[in-house]
Amino acid sequence: MAELDRTRTEVDVPGDWTYASAPESRDIVRIADSYGYYVGGEWLEPAETYETIAPRDEEPLAAIGQATAEDVGRAVVAAREAFADGWSALPGSERAKYLFRIARILQERSREFAVLESLNGGKPIKESRDVDIPLAAAHFFYYAGWADKLEYAFPNRRPRPVGVAGQIIPWNFPLLMLAWKIAPALACGNTVVLKPAETTPLTALLFCDVLRQAELPAGVVNIVTGDGRTGAAIVEHEDIDKIAFTGSTEVGKAIQRHVAGTGKRLTLELGGKAANIVFDDAALDQAVEGIVNGIYFNQGHVCCAGSRLFVQESIYEPLVAKLERRLTTLRVGDPLDKNTDVGAINSAAQLEKIQELVASGIEEGAEIYQPPCVLPEKGYWFVPTVFTNVAQSYRIAQEEIFGPVLSVLTFRTPEEAVEKANNTPYGLSAGVWTEKGSRILWMAQRLRAGVVWANTFNRFDPGSPFGGYKESGFGREGGRHGLEPYLRFDE
Ligand code: NAI
Ligand code: MG
Repeated sequence: MAELDRTRTEVDVPGDWTYASAPESRDIVRIADSYGYYVGGEWLEPAETYETIAPRDEEPLAAIGQATAEDVGRAVVAAREAFADGWSALPGSERAKYLFRIARILQERSREFAVLESLNGGKPIKESRDVDIPLAAAHFFYYAGWADKLEYAFPNRRPRPVGVAGQIIPWNFPLLMLAWKIAPALACGNTVVLKPAETTPLTALLFCDVLRQAELPAGVVNIVTGDGRTGAAIVEHEDIDKIAFTGSTEVGKAIQRHVAGTGKRLTLELGGKAANIVFDDAALDQAVEGIVNGIYFNQGHVCCAGSRLFVQESIYEPLVAKLERRLTTLRVGDPLDKNTDVGAINSAAQLEKIQELVASGIEEGAEIYQPPCVLPEKGYWFVPTVFTNVAQSYRIAQEEIFGPVLSVLTFRTPEEAVEKANNTPYGLSAGVWTEKGSRILWMAQRLRAGVVWANTFNRFDPGSPFGGYKESGFGREGGRHGLEPYLRFDE
C-alpha cells in the first residue's frame, strides 16, 4: 500500500478568506419613470407625485403617486362593483384558479421581484430571493387551496365574504405582506383596495402586472400609493367593510379609535419586542445562529425580531463571546450582492430612529459592542450592534428599535425568564432554546406571545397562524385562522 506523504510542510490553502463581490444583475428589472394607481384594471394618472429611492445609495428610482381621498374613493367604487358584479358569487373553485395562477406567475418572475424588492427596500438579495418571494408565492398557493373548502373549514356556519377590504402594509416585507393580505381576502370572495408603504411601492406596482397576466377580473384588486394620508383615507372611507393593518402600534391605535363604532371589521398586526431565551442546556452554537437570525435578519426590520436576548447566567460569558465573534463574520453592504448578510436601512427616518435609541442605550449605561465594519459611503447603514449590561428599565429593553440592535439580559430560573420575557407591552413572538422538550412546553404555556419558536427563530409557513397579544395587535394571519377575518357567518 502506498504510504501517505506526510513530509510536505507547505499546505496549499488560501490565507485570505474575504469574499469577492457577487452582484446580482439588475437588468431583469424594468422600472418606469412614473407610476399611477391601479384601479378597476386600469392605470389612473396621479395629480401629485413623490420620488421613491434605493436606500443603498439614495438613487432615485421612480415618481410615485400620492393618492388623495378622491383617488381612494375611485378604488373603493371599483372594488365594490367587482364584488357585486360576480367575484363574490364566483364558485370557490373558480376563485382558486386565479390564486393558483398568481402563485405560479410569482414563481416564474421570482428573480425580477427579488431584485426589485432588494433595490427599493434595501434587504439582501439572498433574503428576498430565498424568503420573501417564495413565501409570497406559497401564501397564494396555500389560500388557493382553501377557496373551495370554506364550508369544511367552518362547518354549519355558512361562511360568506365580508365585502371590500382596505389593506395597509409596511415596508419591511413589501411583497410578502401584500400576499398575506390579498391571498386570504380573495380566497374568501372579497375585493381589495391595498396601499403599500410609501418607501417601498415598487413590487406592489409590479404585482399589478401579475394580475393582468393572471386575467383577474378588473376591480378585484386595486392598488393605491401614498403616505399615511392615503392610509387614513382608506380607514375613513365609508364603503369599506374591513380594515387590515400591519405597521406601528401608534398608527394601529389611531386606526382602532377611528374604526370604533363604525361597524368596520379590524385586524391589527403591530410592533414587538420579542424575548429570545437561552437555557444553559441549549446547543450554544446553534443558539448563536438563531440569535443572529433572530435580530440581524432583514436589518432587524422585523416585527417579531428577537430583540431581547435572555441568557441563563451560567452560560452568559461563553455565549456572549461566541456571539460577538460571530458578528465579526457578518457581511454588511450592497443588498444586491449575493454574499451580503445585512443590507441597507430602509429609510433616513428609520436610521435616525435607530441612532436615537442606540444613543439612549449608551446614555443609560449599557455597554455597546459593534464589530469592525466598513460601511458604504452613500445610503443608509447601521453596524450590527449588541448591548450588554442592559437593565429592564432601559429604553433599548422596552421600545421597538426595528434595527440590527440586540439587548442582552440575564436570568437564573425558568420562572424568572418568563417574568422578564412577559415584562413588555408587546406580545408577538418568543424563542426558547433548551434540550428539554418538557421545558419548551412549560415555557410556551406561560409566554404571552402569539408565536413561540423552539430551538429556531423567524420561521414562517403559510399554514401557521401569526399574530399578537397585547399591544402587538389582534387577529391572526396565515393558516385556517387567517380566513376568519375575511368571512362573516351571519345570515
Ligand atoms: P407606520 O405605522 O407609520 O407605517 C405603516 C403603514 O401605515 C404605511 O403604509 C403607512 O403609510 C401607513 N400609515 C401611516 N400613518 C397612517 C395613518 N394615520 N392611517 C393609516 N395608515 C397610515 O410605520 P413607520 O412610520 O413606517 O415606522 C415607524 C415604526 O413602526 C418603526 O420604526 C417600527 O418600530 C414600527 N413598524 C412596525 C412594523 C411591523 O411589522 N409591525 C412595520 C413598520 C413599522
Ligand atoms: Mg409612521
